[in-house]
Amino acid sequence: MSKISWEDLYKSKVVTADEAVKKIKSGDRVVTGHACGEPKEIIDAMVRNKDFYENVEIVHMVSMGKSEYCKPELASNFRHNSIFAGATTRQAILDGRADFTPCFFSEVPKMFKEGTLPVDVALVQLSIPDEHGYCSFGVSNDYTKPAAELAKIVIAELNDKMPRTSGDSFIHVSEIDYIVETSNEIIELMPPKIGEIEKAIGENCAKLIEDGSTLQLGIGAIPDAVLLFLKGKKDLGIHSEMISDGVVELIEAGVITNKAKTLHCGKSVVTFLMGTKRLYDYVNGNPSVEMYPVDYVNNPCVIAENYKMVSINSCIQVDLMGQVAADTIGLKQFSGVGGQVDFVRGAAMAKGGKSIIAMPSTASKGKVSRIVPILDEGATVTTSRNDIHYIVTEFGIAQLKGKTLKERARALINVAHPDFRDTLIEEWEKRFKVKF
Ligand code: COA
Repeated sequence: MSKISWEDLYKSKVVTADEAVKKIKSGDRVVTGHACGEPKEIIDAMVRNKDFYENVEIVHMVSMGKSEYCKPELASNFRHNSIFAGATTRQAILDGRADFTPCFFSEVPKMFKEGTLPVDVALVQLSIPDEHGYCSFGVSNDYTKPAAELAKIVIAELNDKMPRTSGDSFIHVSEIDYIVETSNEIIELMPPKIGEIEKAIGENCAKLIEDGSTLQLGIGAIPDAVLLFLKGKKDLGIHSEMISDGVVELIEAGVITNKAKTLHCGKSVVTFLMGTKRLYDYVNGNPSVEMYPVDYVNNPCVIAENYKMVSINSCIQVDLMGQVAADTIGLKQFSGVGGQVDFVRGAAMAKGGKSIIAMPSTASKGKVSRIVPILDEGATVTTSRNDIHYIVTEFGIAQLKGKTLKERARALINVAHPDFRDTLIEEWEKRFKVKF
């Protein structure tokens, strides 16, 4: 008896998006591909067929799509369970139509695997198969690949524009239940505007980065501003939750070589990508950028194997003890912990490692200080005072490791905006009962 070829298997699995979403049942937990890897056509079809379902739970982290299942009129059909709030989901969480599940990014696959958050259906977007029948997870490996490996049903959008990324980034056609063929540009994230404040922060962060360091950078203007000031450095490496276009520029300029890396020497290691076509073209078929699931990339013990590991993330508020609120504004769920604590802890354990929380000294157009005596009521401590190493603003660097409560509060006041320093000093003198 001859074995069925992967090509025949493939053909037998091709359906339309509307047919595919009929495999989802009321009450199922559906995990959707992350961020720029969101399977747009399948999700649109699921929303279009809303009357087919009651109470389908949609789980994801960053959404770069429309998140229409969060609309009030679809509340009986869908309920969103967010692991990272964003522009399109925040309001639904605030209004009580959606839920929020706190957890470290590195632990999401474990929750799928060990039954605290089992997956019924995975909706993913993949590259088209290679000559052996393997599709790549492209721009989003993170929890998307583990979800596909653990779900009862896998519905995949095979997009001929999805880059084929290297590393542990593949799934065979035989592992997919239903295939929807598409041809869409991958969702892009345009480079942010970098202002004078971000530039000053970037310059201060760059002072802490030695030649041969391995970097983790978050999303946004501050990480991009840091990259601007790294042009004179040598042999930097990447072990990061995500990268965007700025990293490609430094690779092409010969600043990021990955040569000094003590883990995956010669390779940039990431779990997801968010950028423009420039980034996606760069990673396509490129063996020097390796993608792995998030329980590997963000595992603090794995991060710690990179000597001179430097993590750079941002926050909403820091109090005078060094407690960092990065994912809530008061009681309001603004984002999520993401990989912040994973990388802060990994960098702390790495030989010569440093973790940096970098932020503008003020928010709301200069009206409020981000350095505060006490965090806002209801705000969560994202990163604890025991974990914090460096806090950087446009006014300088506060090194908090090994510092007493009095010393760390003084260091933080010294990098606060001058408009707020007097009030903070008053609080300092009241708290410590001595002159500043
Ligand atoms: N008080 C009141 N409002 C505040 C505030 C404060 N202390 N700090 C920020 N805000 C408001 C800003 O004014 C802004 O409002 P706007 O959108 O109406 O202008 C909004 O919150 C976003 O602040 P901003 O600092 O511009 O956000 P950002 O896009 O730079 O993201 C974090 C900063 C902290 C939210 C983001 O880095 C995050 O979610 N971090 C946690 C996850 C993480 O670190 N992951 C690892 C890397 S991906």
